[in-house]
Order: sequence, then structure tokens, then C-alpha cells
Amino acid sequence: MCGIVGYIGKQKAAPILLDGIKSLEYRGYDSAGISVINNQGGVAEAQVEKAVGKVINLENKIKSRELLGGLGIIHTRWATHGGATEANAHPHSDCAGNIWLVHNGIIENYKELKNELISAGHQFKSETDTEVVAHLIEEQVKSLKSKVQSYALEDAVRLALKKVRGAYALAIIDKREPEKLVAVRNSSPLILGIGNDEYLVASDASAVVKHTRKVIYFNDGEMAILTPDNHRVVNLENQAVDSQPQELDWTVESAQKGGYPHFMLKEIFEQPEAVENCLRGRLVVQEGTAKLGGLESIKDKLREIKRIHISACGTAYLAGKVGEYMLEEYAGIPVEVDLASELRYRKPVFDNHDAVLVISQSGETADTLASVKEAKEKGILTLGIVNTVGSSIARETEAGIYQHIGPEIGVASTKAFTSQVAVLALLTLFLGRQRQMSLVTGERIARELQRLPELIRKVLQSEDLIKQIAVKYQTHNNFLYLGRKYNLPIAYEGALKLKEISYIHAEGYGAGEMKHGPIAMIDQNLPSVVIVPSDSVYEKTVSNIEEIRARRGPVIAIATEGNEDIKSLADDVIYIPKSLEMLTPILSAVPLQLFAYHVGVLRGLDVDKPRNLAKSVTVE
Ligand code: G6P
Repeated sequence: MCGIVGYIGKQKAAPILLDGIKSLEYRGYDSAGISVINNQGGVAEAQVEKAVGKVINLENKIKSRELLGGLGIIHTRWATHGGATEANAHPHSDCAGNIWLVHNGIIENYKELKNELISAGHQFKSETDTEVVAHLIEEQVKSLKSKVQSYALEDAVRLALKKVRGAYALAIIDKREPEKLVAVRNSSPLILGIGNDEYLVASDASAVVKHTRKVIYFNDGEMAILTPDNHRVVNLENQAVDSQPQELDWTVESAQKGGYPHFMLKEIFEQPEAVENCLRGRLVVQEGTAKLGGLESIKDKLREIKRIHISACGTAYLAGKVGEYMLEEYAGIPVEVDLASELRYRKPVFDNHDAVLVISQSGETADTLASVKEAKEKGILTLGIVNTVGSSIARETEAGIYQHIGPEIGVASTKAFTSQVAVLALLTLFLGRQRQMSLVTGERIARELQRLPELIRKVLQSEDLIKQIAVKYQTHNNFLYLGRKYNLPIAYEGALKLKEISYIHAEGYGAGEMKHGPIAMIDQNLPSVVIVPSDSVYEKTVSNIEEIRARRGPVIAIATEGNEDIKSLADDVIYIPKSLEMLTPILSAVPLQLFAYHVGVLRGLDVDKPRNLAKSVTVE
């Protein structure tokens, strides 16, 4: 979690840093801080400001100050070590206030390092793990000074990091070297933007894209040494690394709200286009299959796969649960779906013909990344479904499929979810056609996938109705979400969305399992959202609705267009168009996203940045 930005160049750093960090606020927003080196008249000074709460508080604080320098760093925090206070907000410094740094990640051995540094006379000002790095660098500067005539900041940084265990993306400045920015990465995301006589480093591309689309993705253990007109990348052994810049495929607009009041609503409405983008060029309808460039090189290996372990977190995990039903039904491959935080610690029984498939929008989720590493350690084929190009998971996995949906900024995942499910459908086609799936079935699925963007557009037309339903139920404090088969994961996802966005207790449950417990809670005060499309389990789910009605529980039904009977069973009905059963989750998820969104807004909450959450969870 946490977002960092660093700037060095001919312009004033502060406005660029502030603007950049705002686009990273989804990564954490409990405090923020900035440090700019002002080098007027040959006397360099570090101008530092910190504020608790969102970046706007920091912005208000620095309004009255003139931050002039062209070198600076900024941070938005999601607290791990130490509460959300100004003292714990980054940037952190050494004892002398020369070295300033911002950090995303966790220094695992910080306690022992801190004790050693305290014994050596260092004084700490915060409870963070990060601060040890500043003091460690200070210590190395001291030692270098005693040995050599001149030293460089990057040498001290390299030596200091040899003592550090953990994950970090760091941007470091030193007022004694006011024309230099050092940035280094290990396991936490970091990107270098190369402009004209200026450089930016940032946790992700959204902070960079306004200034340049020429970027370098760092590998673990790589460090950039930047001056206003030059950059150098080395490893921690000080050997030059040949990092070739790449062109970003994001646009500035894709990281802005584009007239919508919230990113979440914009991203909900972007879903037809997002699904279109992730399908583009991949469907081969007449052959009833999918062409997936990222899997070409391992096509033969995939033919041999006998079992798939899906591993992911949060909403991506629930996309994986839908994938399980699809892959088992149409590709005939046994699938197990694990929470990544479980897979990495339990002892999964892997076979040589198994593959681990991880799903991650950000490509940086710590537990998901760890499950990739665990599988690789055991020699298992690793595959990824990832949105962020160049992310850690994209690079760690052997092969994979990109979602190509542009940045998702709202903390609660929406368009990433539906496109993950669409990609899983593509994978099902691909693997299914390698196995027993007939041409006719493949063609039918491919054609239906082609129609999906249009069908999602139709669901979005119900927004006004969904808003009215949100008004009606907004004061309830408990909800039950029920579904079966393909729509059981959607019941979980609907409940998760409501919890995340409106802080209302909502429980997702198998409709058939309801009578084994939750039915005890049903009365007129507990609304149930039941996903009941006209599919193979329709009648079973209708029986479950009857059980709720018999106990006077209000029912909101998500049903298939043309189903008039359901009106007499449910208090409120939201229709979705008819589609293949395996694709209904992509349609039924959409009204639940809109419902959660509107309840959250009606309750006056910040739906883009729900309390306590962060979008990219780079800690365990
Ligand atoms: C966080 C986000 C969720 C997301 C999950 C996994 O919890 O708030 O929206 O589903 O992380 O993120 P990933 O980037 O791995 O898909």
C-alpha cells in the first residue's frame, strides 16, 4: 500500500508532486507528506510538510508556503507500523535532517536494525519501519566519509539496503546533493517516467502519464540515479542495468473522472468498453476458440494440464470462483480456488501436470504474488490474469493474459471484476477446445461473448430503478445476498461491494445453504438480494425465495428479462438480459455494483476511498 512520487527537473516540483500523489490516493489515504529541496542562493534547505488525513489536508497546509525547488518527494500513507499521525507520516529523515525518503512496503527486520541504530546514538522521531532506512543511510554516509574522500548518495543507499530485509519502493533525496534523486525497488511497485529534462518516479503510471508516456519498469534490486538531464540504472552491486524504456498504453483521460461524480460510477459505466477491450482480437468465432497471445508460447504445455489451482484475493478471488464453474463445466479441468493468503501457507498437493493461475488487477497484491513464488519454487507452471502491464505478478508468472481495461482507480473493484470473468471465459474456450469442447459449443460461447458489451449496456439502463431501490433500503443495517451455481460467487461479490462501500453488514450465502443457518435471521427487517436468472437452478432458487417470503423477509430479485412470474414473488425486481448461464455473472454483478454505489452515496460516504481499505494491498 502507500503511494510515492518523486520529481527532479526544471519545473517546480511541489505542484507536480501534489498532482501525482492525488492519482495514487487510492493506495492509502490516512496521512500525507512532502519534502522539497529548495536550493536558492547555493544554500540547500529541505522544506517539509505533513498532514493527517487525505492529500487535500496537505495541500491546504502548503498553500501558504512557497515550495520552490525542482527536486522533491511525496507520499500518501496506509498505516502499517504506527498510527496515522504527523510524526509517522512520510517523508522520514536521518538525525541531521539531510536525507529524506518516502517508502512503500515493509522493512521486516526493522526492529533489530532500530535497536542497533539506537545503540549507535541515532534518535528516532516516528514509530515506523521506514525511518530505519534513513538512519541506515546516514550511518553509511558516515562510514564512507571516514574511508574515502568523496562519496555519492547512491553508494550509501546501496550499502544501507544490503542490511535491509523486506519489500520497498523508495525515493530518496539528500540536501547535500540537491541535484539528485535516487529511487530503488524490491518487491513493491515502482516506475520511472522519462520526460524532457525531467524525471518522475511513482508507484504507478497514473502519476506519470500527464508528463510522459516513456517509462521504465524497475525489476527487483534495481536503482535509478537521476539528475535533471540524465538517468542511470544500476543493481545493488553497482553494475549498470540495460533498462529499455517502453511506451505506456494509458491515456491521461483514462486516469480522470471524465464528468462522473466518482471513479466507481465511471468504472461501472465503462464496463461495456472494458469487456470489449479485453475481448478485442481474441475471439475466433468460426473456430469456436480464443487466440491468446500470452499463452502461445506454452500452448503444448497447457494441453497437458490436468488441474488448475486459482489463487487470488478479494474480488479477484470471487472472479476465480466463477472461473472454477466455467473451467470444470466446459474445459473438463478440475479446479481448486484458494484465497492467496491461504495457498501460500497451507500445503497444497501439487502434481507435475498442475498449473497455478493467479488473478490480480494490480498485479501487486502481496499474498497473490507470494503464491506465485511458492508455486514456482515447487516447479509448477504459473499463469496470470493481470490488468497492470509490467506489474510484479505479470513479470513473475510464466505466461498470462492481460485484461487491457485501463486503470481502475475506485478502491472497490468493478470493471476489473467483470473483465476478469470475461478473460476466464476466454481461457475456458481456449483450454476447452484443446480438450473435449465441440466446435458448436465453442462457437456458441464465442458468439455470446461478442454480445456481452451490448448486454451490459442494457443492464446499465436500469440505473434509475436501482437508485430508487437503494433509496428504499438505505436505512437497513443488514442484508443477505443469495445465489446458486454460477451466481453464488456473485452473491458473495454483491455482499462484499455493499460492505466495502456503505459499511453495512451484508452476508453472501448459497441460496440452497440458507436453511442451514441464516434462515434463523430472516424477518421483515432483513432484506435478501436473490440472484435468480432463468438458468439450470432457477426453480431451486425460487423455492428458496418462497422460504424467505414465508418468514416475511423482503426480497430484491435479479432476474431474467421476460420473467413476469418473479414479480409476484419479490418486492423489487431488477432485470438482466438473457445470456448463456456461464456468462450471467458478468451481467448480474452490474446491478449489485450500482446498488452498493447508490446506498454508499445516499449515506454520504466516500465511495471511491472507503475507510480502512486500500486498492493495492502490498502487505500480507
Ligand atoms: C483490495 C481491493 C479489492 C481487490 C483486492 C485484490 O482488497 O480493495 O478491490 O479485489 O485488493 O486486488 P488485485 O489487485 O490483486 O486484484
